[in-house]
Amino acid sequence: MATKIGIDAGGTLTKIAFWDETNELQLLSFLSSNFKAVKDWLDSKSSLSSICLTGGRAEQLKKFLLSQNDIPYIVEFDATMAGVMYQLKHDGIRCEKAIIANIGTGTSIHIMEADSHSRLGGTGIGGGTLIGLGSALTGTKSYEEMIEVSKKGSRSSIDILVSDIYESNKLPINGSLTASNFGGVALKSIENRTKADYLAGIQGIIGEVVASLCIQSADAHGVNDIIYIGSTLENNSLLKEIIESYTILKQKNPIFLDKHGYSGAIGALLESK
Ligand SMILES: Nc1ncnc2c1ncn2[C@@H]1O[C@H](COP(=O)(O)OP(=O)(O)OP(=O)(O)O)[C@@H](O)[C@H]1O
Ligand SMILES: [Mg+2]
Repeated sequence: MATKIGIDAGGTLTKIAFWDETNELQLLSFLSSNFKAVKDWLDSKSSLSSICLTGGRAEQLKKFLLSQNDIPYIVEFDATMAGVMYQLKHDGIRCEKAIIANIGTGTSIHIMEADSHSRLGGTGIGGGTLIGLGSALTGTKSYEEMIEVSKKGSRSSIDILVSDIYESNKLPINGSLTASNFGGVALKSIENRTKADYLAGIQGIIGEVVASLCIQSADAHGVNDIIYIGSTLENNSLLKEIIESYTILKQKNPIFLDKHGYSGAIGALLESK
């Protein structure tokens, strides 16, 4: 029997989902700048594999693979939704209507209702911002190192909170909310900011921008659940905490799926014939 494989070739990472011999779901990822590694992996699998592609770089990967057969393709958003629905069912999470934020290189925001979905918008603030701004400010290049170091950081000298501005005045809104991400770097006279502090501040920008947009979308559409996915959440407990606490503060229900970045690849796998 041919091995079924779903591939999501994204802006930064190419994710692969496939069923192994025991019918267990297997997941792996490669940098999208290294299609050769993807090709080598595929070549190491049975030549009888049946592939379905998705993602913004699907066409580029298809050309690189120089496949004799035309490889089936599924639109990225359809694949992502199918992968999200599969995981909700598999994990026993009841959720009929939700806002979905895919925090990839950039962030795309959708609404899912019953079996249908539509795109509401997005923002260029995403995982690419974390590694781009992170390397510009700290010189650190590795994603893993950035998220590990960021956990040791403090945002107190980086950001300005509402309570920093209002001090003894009566607060019009919750004082613990961020009034200005990174504003503290200009306005607070503290000399010893560490790389960890800067990285924590960048995680703050991403988490709060994405969560704010999702909360506003949820309010506009009368939705309670917000599902956050994308590889930017991979091993990234700090970003999760920022998103989770802000979403809960705004009385919405944050949902994180275990296989964060793999929804598109799983959706493509489900389409693979
Ligand atoms: N090993 C890694 N190397 C680089 N970035 C990583 C890695 N693991 C996680 N990331 C994070 O995940 C982000 C990419 O997420 P994801 O794979 O969901 O996006 P993508 O599908 O490549 O992009 P898009 O959907 O926007 O085309 C990176 O920007 C980075 O923040
Ligand atoms: Mg993607």
